[in-house]
Amino acid sequence: MDDLKKFIRNMPKAELHLHIEGSLEPELMFALARRNKVEIPFATVEEVQDAYQFSNLQDFLDIYYQGMSVLLKEQDFYELTFAYLTKMQEQKVIHVEIFFDPQGHTDRGVPFATVIDGITRALNDGLEKYGITSKLILCFLRHLSEDAAFATLAEALPYRDRIAAVGLDSSEMGHPPSKFARVFEKAKAEGFLAVAHAGEEGPPEYVSEALDLLKVDRLDHGNRALEDTALVTRLADSQIALTVCPLSNYKLAGVTDMRAHPIKKMLDLGLKATVNSDDPAYFGGYMNENFEAITESLNLTKEEILNLARNGFEASFCSDTEKQAMISRLEAYGA
Ligand code: HPA
Ligand code: ZN
Repeated sequence: MDDLKKFIRNMPKAELHLHIEGSLEPELMFALARRNKVEIPFATVEEVQDAYQFSNLQDFLDIYYQGMSVLLKEQDFYELTFAYLTKMQEQKVIHVEIFFDPQGHTDRGVPFATVIDGITRALNDGLEKYGITSKLILCFLRHLSEDAAFATLAEALPYRDRIAAVGLDSSEMGHPPSKFARVFEKAKAEGFLAVAHAGEEGPPEYVSEALDLLKVDRLDHGNRALEDTALVTRLADSQIALTVCPLSNYKLAGVTDMRAHPIKKMLDLGLKATVNSDDPAYFGGYMNENFEAITESLNLTKEEILNLARNGFEASFCSDTEKQAMISRLEAYGA
C-alpha cells in the first residue's frame, strides 16, 4: 500500500468535480470572517470539525451555504481559488474543471462580477505559476426556481468566454433535472457544455432525465444508476463519464462502508468512472486522499488506478490534442 500511495501522490491527475466553495478550509473561513466582519457560529477549528458530521446531503448543504457567507470581495474569491490550486499543485493535479455556485452569492448581494473575477484571476495565476490548466462550470442551484436559473444564465452571458459549461447542484430529492430542461436547452443553444448532479441521492430516473432532457456531456456522481441495468448498459455504451466522489459519498452516508464503494464495480461494468473530491474541506480529503481511500478499501491495482486517472483526462472538456498531451504524461509516468 505504501508503494501505491506514493504512486498515487506523484501521478499526474485531473479533477472534474469540485465545488470551489467546498474547498473553503476552516482557517481561511475564520480569516475571512474576521476581515469581513461576518459572524460564524464557530470559534475554533475543532468546533468546525465537530459540526462537519452529516447524515445526508441536505445536512451538509446547510453548513456549506453558511460557510460561504464569509465570501464577499473579489479578493476573497481569489484567495479561496488560489488556495485550492496551490493544494492541487502539491498533489500533482495538472488540470481542474471547477464548479461555482453564483446564486449562493448573488442572493446575498455579492455581484456576479465579483465572484467570477476573483475566481478567474486565480485560475489565470494557477496557469502562470503552477502550469495548471482549468475550465469553469456554472452550477444552477436546483432548490431554486427555473426563473432564477434563467436570470443567472442571463448574467453569465457576458462572461461566456470564461465559462465552459453549466451544471446543476444542491438538494437533489424533489428537484429533478426535468425542472431545468428549458434552461439547459437555452444554455446549450448559447454554446455551453452541460453537466448535472444526478443519482447522488436521487433515483435512476433522475440520471435518465439528465441524459434525455438536459443532454449532459458528463454526469456528476451517477451512483444510483447502478440500480437500473438498462441504464448501466446505456452509460457503458455511450461512455458518458461519471465524476465519482468517494469520500463525499462516505461522509454524506450514501455509502456506509468504503469497502462497499461502487467505483470498482463501475469500472468492472465498463463505465467511464473518474475520481474527484467534491467538497474537500468538508469531506476530509482532496484528490490524493480520495484515490488512497478507494485503493486501500477496494484493493485497487496500479492498472485500475491508472485507468481512473486516464478517464479523468479523457472525460475532461479539453481538446483532443490537449487530452492526448496529458495522457502521454500519464503513460510516461506509469511506464
Ligand atoms: N451535491 C449537491 N450539491 C452540492 C454538493 C454535492 O455534493 N456540494 C456542493 N453542492
Ligand atoms: Zn458535487
